[in-house]
Amino acid sequence: MAIFYDEQSKIFYLESKETTYAFGINKLGILEHLYFGKRVGRDLVFTTYSEKGRSHAVYVFDEDGVKYDITSIPKEIETPYAGDYYEPSLILEYANGSRRSDLVFEGYEILKEKPKLDGLPSLRYGETLAIKLRAKTAKVILYYTVYEESSVIARSMKIENTGDDNIRVNRAYSFSFSLPNRDWKALYLAGGAGAETQVKQTTLDRGIFTIDSKRGISSASMNPFMAIGLPETSENAGIAYGVNIIYSGSHAISAERTPMGIVRVTGGLSDFDFSWKLEPGETFQSPETVLVFSDKGYSGMSREFHNIFRNALIPKRFVKKSRPIVINNWEATRFKFTMEKLRSIVETVAGTGIDTFVLDDGWFGKREDETSGLGDWFVNEEKMEGTLKDLIDFTHEKGMRFGLWFEPEMVNRDSDLYRAHPEWALRTPDEEPVEARRQLMLDLTREEVREYLATTINKIIRDHEIDYVKWDCNRDLAEGYSLALPVDRQKETYHRQILGLYDLFERIVDANPDVLFEGCSSGGSRFDAGVLYYFPQIWTSDQTDAPARAKIQYGTSFVYPFSSMSCHVTESPNRRAKHITKLYARADLAHMGATGYELDTTKMTEEELEEIPKQIAAYKADEDLVFDGDIYRLNAPFGDSNYFAIQVVSPDKKKAKLTVMKMLENFNEPELRIFPEGLDADTVYEVAELETSMTGASWMNFGIYPQMPQGDFETKVYRFIAK
Ligand code: DGJ
Repeated sequence: MAIFYDEQSKIFYLESKETTYAFGINKLGILEHLYFGKRVGRDLVFTTYSEKGRSHAVYVFDEDGVKYDITSIPKEIETPYAGDYYEPSLILEYANGSRRSDLVFEGYEILKEKPKLDGLPSLRYGETLAIKLRAKTAKVILYYTVYEESSVIARSMKIENTGDDNIRVNRAYSFSFSLPNRDWKALYLAGGAGAETQVKQTTLDRGIFTIDSKRGISSASMNPFMAIGLPETSENAGIAYGVNIIYSGSHAISAERTPMGIVRVTGGLSDFDFSWKLEPGETFQSPETVLVFSDKGYSGMSREFHNIFRNALIPKRFVKKSRPIVINNWEATRFKFTMEKLRSIVETVAGTGIDTFVLDDGWFGKREDETSGLGDWFVNEEKMEGTLKDLIDFTHEKGMRFGLWFEPEMVNRDSDLYRAHPEWALRTPDEEPVEARRQLMLDLTREEVREYLATTINKIIRDHEIDYVKWDCNRDLAEGYSLALPVDRQKETYHRQILGLYDLFERIVDANPDVLFEGCSSGGSRFDAGVLYYFPQIWTSDQTDAPARAKIQYGTSFVYPFSSMSCHVTESPNRRAKHITKLYARADLAHMGATGYELDTTKMTEEELEEIPKQIAAYKADEDLVFDGDIYRLNAPFGDSNYFAIQVVSPDKKKAKLTVMKMLENFNEPELRIFPEGLDADTVYEVAELETSMTGASWMNFGIYPQMPQGDFETKVYRFIAK
């Protein structure tokens, strides 16, 4: 049993193999957060801080007359207006204008079956604790799911209006917990489209440190993730907490260091421009947040995220299924393709091991460039010089499967759909709609829009033999306004749009269970756990320049497993960076994830084309490591560091793969020595690339000189095979 309630002490223990999460009902009746960390006994005590003469505090008294400063008590959920001055996790507004919710514990329930979250993706399975609280005319339920085999707790909150008047939900975060007074640091993944998931760190000093997105999508500017560690926490040692929201819209996570030194962490759905009208009897479900603890450093934290996402989030039928090795035409042709060009791309790689051709943007409506056509999901047979079926048949004849690009959520003003339904775009009533990439976002809060999209797209998939869909999303949401919603519900638009998106995902994915869907948002602008609940993989970035990719994949791996990262080999010199890189270097990086190729294969030399089957054979031999390998990041390619090094070890420790990249050739630079991790100390491993066999202990402690070739952007891959 993972959940235990000690009636005597009134403490709840949420226990997994290596972790304890504990909170209880203290003498003031407050749900006090006690502990989250390495597994401990069921002997914890309340640390409620009794007043020591501080002023400007709101005191509450226990039955013995001892007074307490309400704000200094670490809580499982914070509400304002009664003396707690820190970042709240819940703000409800009642019919009389009061925003005060003094929460009263009403009981708890242990659920063997985790309830599905209304309209939202979440981790599956897991014993779940439901804590029931009362707040005036609302019932608040806190859900905690425990995964016994992992150091993971999933948290969410549900609010029910049990009164006769409307309530406004002005903030409904998913979780809150507190860390004791230590010198915590926050680590987060910031960036932009084409420079996603750059690893950043900051010291948590007094004040609030928040990462957020107000873009209506989870965004490349801040991934919905924060890790918290100590100054001594490194990649492979020390304490690290991880927080990741299973949500694809605007979000916020904040860490506040209070005057008492403790750090209160809270977050979830962003309350920027948010307010939800809850009518009597209605419920509001917050997105779920995944909390992870590791005492094995940031890589240990990542292994927890990877394992739980592979076991309980990503669709089961795909998680360990061999992924298609694609050739995508976008980088080769962009919008300007001819049937002949597409066929020749397919033809040149037929028989190489590349097994799926993906036709990207430009095959539908009047789509010659980004200015028109989005929304018109019918095949442009004039541009295609034939039917879609013709191209699919040709691809099949060459022994390959077929994939197709869509951007369902969008519409161009120059489209038949917009001309017929201008009201279907999200926009404010009085201004010109805001365009980004010359497109508008469709209003997914409308059932008729979702119905139209699901019917049209499902028909194309059903009428053709399509094995793979790339689902793109190339803009953020600017106007949080729907012409379909009443005035007093406008601040629900951002969240309703995401609920609509999930409903649409479900209608299209459920109708096509054998099709592999890949998420994309100008690369990784919507790389989040919400999308991974429906789609097993996401295009990691439009930035495919090998050294930049190394950084992006390094950062993305903090939370998301390699099997979820779609990574392609593209042309050299790189289109954006102009860097010249070797074909093997690009492949070494791309083959760390769900791999593919995306370049004009007709321009490849004979030797390069001959390389592809060898590269694919090597990838296939290690594909199991992509599916369920344990990650150990060994060298971060950030700051002054000139090297990227990541090792992936099979769960049975029989094999491992170490990928190293040198960024720039620096003459006379001290030689890099790498110390592998995660091998079995007593097992002898052969590394053929070094013609050496040693025990795991020797490899890990003696280390290896990677012997990088001279030159910029060079890579080396070492395979450790147990003898
Ligand atoms: C952005 C994606 O990231 C690209 O791979 C490509 O699909 C384009 N959109 C097409 O418009």
